[in-house]
Amino acid sequence: MNFENSIDFAKQLDEEDPLRAYKNEFLFPEHGGKPVIYFTGNSLGLQPKTAQAKVQEVLNDWASLAVDGHFYAQNPWWEMHEQLSPKLANIIGAKPKEVAIMNTLTANLHFLMVSFYKPTPHRYKIICEEKAFPSDQYAFQSQLRFHGYDPQDGIIELKKRKGTHHWYTEDVLETIEKNKDTATLLLMGGVNYYNGQVFDMQSITQKAKECGLMVGWDLAHAVGNVKLELHKWGVDFATWCSYKYLNSGPGSLAGIYVNEKYLDQSNLNRFEGWWGHDKATRFQMQKNFKPMPNAEAWQLSNLPILSLAPQLASVQMFDDVGMGALVAKSQKLTNYLQYLLEHSQGFNRYFELLTPLKRGCQLSLYFKNKGREVFDAFSEHGVVADWREPGVIRLAPVPLYNSFEEMYLFAVILKNTLKQVYTL
Ligand SMILES: Cc1ncc(COP(=O)(O)O)c(C=O)c1O
Repeated sequence: MNFENSIDFAKQLDEEDPLRAYKNEFLFPEHGGKPVIYFTGNSLGLQPKTAQAKVQEVLNDWASLAVDGHFYAQNPWWEMHEQLSPKLANIIGAKPKEVAIMNTLTANLHFLMVSFYKPTPHRYKIICEEKAFPSDQYAFQSQLRFHGYDPQDGIIELKKRKGTHHWYTEDVLETIEKNKDTATLLLMGGVNYYNGQVFDMQSITQKAKECGLMVGWDLAHAVGNVKLELHKWGVDFATWCSYKYLNSGPGSLAGIYVNEKYLDQSNLNRFEGWWGHDKATRFQMQKNFKPMPNAEAWQLSNLPILSLAPQLASVQMFDDVGMGALVAKSQKLTNYLQYLLEHSQGFNRYFELLTPLKRGCQLSLYFKNKGREVFDAFSEHGVVADWREPGVIRLAPVPLYNSFEEMYLFAVILKNTLKQVYTL
């Protein structure tokens, strides 16, 4: 599509946008009496307007029913999560029985590694991307130590080529092939949090499976952002958080995916709790664990319902829109932002775009100098973005609530900021 650098053109794109009404479904923080331009849905998604009513409903049921709310609330608490599984399954390309809602992301990485990281003296290494999100690195290191291996030697990092800012799929596949005799698990981010790159999850999964590895994906930056087909790709397991693109509120419940082929494997290691026990007999309080026939067998505890409630509100929107329409808008919106950044009076002299074309909505800009000053200056004009050392500004236009007009307005703010900071 041929873009134009003008407010009229941006407004026209908004008029033509089939998802434009969704912006009004979210609450925006304000700056100087006006809604901010919010670019940090990759960190914490905005609050859907319907979230408060969902939480209030739980509070009301708790007040009026107390313990009976578990079974007699409007949305009985003990099975509230079941409404979410089919919708989340659509978002990640899985069967509903392959999905469960539980814990938080890092906790799930550990619980899933209990089942899917099975080191032996010959094959014990974990393959991940270099500079993986720190929590993932700590999880891998502590799992290796727990099993008696040295993290220094037990983690194989997928490297970027010298002088580039992204990974090449062929290099990833080659590293898997080279290490297939000692590696047992590939576990990495589907979308890299720093440069916004979407990995070729299908080819990487296929290669790692051919090489006999278990394959897991951390989907923190992928879920609700890019199209996923976990089941079709033959992924073994995955986990994600719900507070970024899924807009479910700070620290809200995470999700897991477990490939259906593992659901009836009784010899699989798993840390278990009563909420993973067969629902029909759970409250008979029997000694022997009978797993749920789905991924809920991994659930441990009864769920924090106040944290689950906003997720019902948000995930419904994804269900209404569908990932196809969402991704179509997302690509147009991010392409427009990139176009504006590249066509506004030589902006790109001051920064380098780290994000490759295989991306979700995020663009990461690297400023060689004065990046922090640029960030602070545009923040004062009501732009909420994300700063990462040593000079990276991450911008994530979110298709459900960002508009094309905002991309244009941001480009104008950035132009003025650059003039101010670099005294042009
Ligand atoms: C890629 C990735 N992995 C793990 C985490 C940690 O998530 P949590 O604090 O929910 O465990 C995050 C948080 O932002 C993340 O982006």
